[in-house]
Amino acid sequence: MRVLVTGGAGFIGSHVVDRYLAEGHQVAVVDDLSSGRRANVPDGATLHELDIADPGLATIFDQFRPELVNHHAAQISVTASARDPLRDARVNVVGLLNVLENCARVGVGHVIFISSGGAIYGDIETRPTPETVVPEPVSPYAITKLVGEHYLRFYGLQHGLGSTVLRYGNVYGPRQDPHGEAGVVAIFCQTLLRREVPTIYAYPDQPAGMSRDYVFVGDVAEANVAATRRAASVASGECRPFNIAGGNAVRTRTLFETLRDAAKIDVEAKQAPARDAELKESCLDVARAAAELPWQATTSLRSGLEQTLAYFQQA
Ligand SMILES: NC(=O)c1ccc[n+]([C@@H]2O[C@H](COP(=O)([O-])OP(=O)(O)OC[C@H]3O[C@@H](n4cnc5c(N)ncnc54)[C@H](O)[C@@H]3O)[C@@H](O)[C@H]2O)c1
Repeated sequence: MRVLVTGGAGFIGSHVVDRYLAEGHQVAVVDDLSSGRRANVPDGATLHELDIADPGLATIFDQFRPELVNHHAAQISVTASARDPLRDARVNVVGLLNVLENCARVGVGHVIFISSGGAIYGDIETRPTPETVVPEPVSPYAITKLVGEHYLRFYGLQHGLGSTVLRYGNVYGPRQDPHGEAGVVAIFCQTLLRREVPTIYAYPDQPAGMSRDYVFVGDVAEANVAATRRAASVASGECRPFNIAGGNAVRTRTLFETLRDAAKIDVEAKQAPARDAELKESCLDVARAAAELPWQATTSLRSGLEQTLAYFQQA
């Protein structure tokens, strides 16, 4: 199948590209390399260096004629979205619309849209949180991800475009950028390996830090393969969301201590106040993905952290 992956030079998107190539698909990548890296794109895929909001996207759709579009490109930082909601919306709403307009125009069969289960539900009481809960997003990033899901439903109704929404938990693993504000595992790995003191951001009433639902990037790539297989049997215009996570809540301090044990490095973390728009708790119900994709995470936190540490040791 011809698959176009936006954001395929990035952390998660590049692992998805690897798996698509291994499955025998023909892969084109659209990425402006704002945070992604050319080196992440394997030889078997064609990279088009372009902003997803650029009108030139039409030419790529006309020439490649994708049968499925996997949309990973995004402004990914919650705190950056709180500082600059306009930029967040330009990429996550206007960019997405440019992709969807092209999908409708050339008759793409299915779209896999990457949303955020770690952000859109807000600080909700129901945990683990199932897909049926009404999201209460509290950051511009979470709002634009949810808006994206609503647009997919519109394109389903208006153009018969079938779609799958993958609502990721906190994804970690090799190739994650340790220089950003998001990606605590990558940041901790690099800080620990440099024998520097990592920071645990925490609210005053949560001394062990916030809780997050971590999932290893290899498992997430498998979820994309499962969603791609299922796409063939999705009815025209259907749009269905799936939580993609481990289904466990892990506090930042536990994450840090597990990583420190795995690295066998004796460093103590320091504490700092939580930053803008950060949720206190997040844990996702993954039963729907297990039953319907079908998919479930198989990598334990310890094993995933060891693989990530090994990557940063070589990098
Ligand atoms: N990392 C996580 O824990 C997590 C959790 C939930 C959802 N997500 C979503 O997964 C997707 C991938 O995130 P990631 O963690 O791999 O981040 P990433 O920054 O590594 O990947 C995003 C990619 O999109 C590209 N990009 C950004 N703006 C673009 C634009 N305007 N035009 C073209 N390309 C553009 C970047 O260069 C990068 O390669 C995003 O949609 C993100 O919101 C990530």
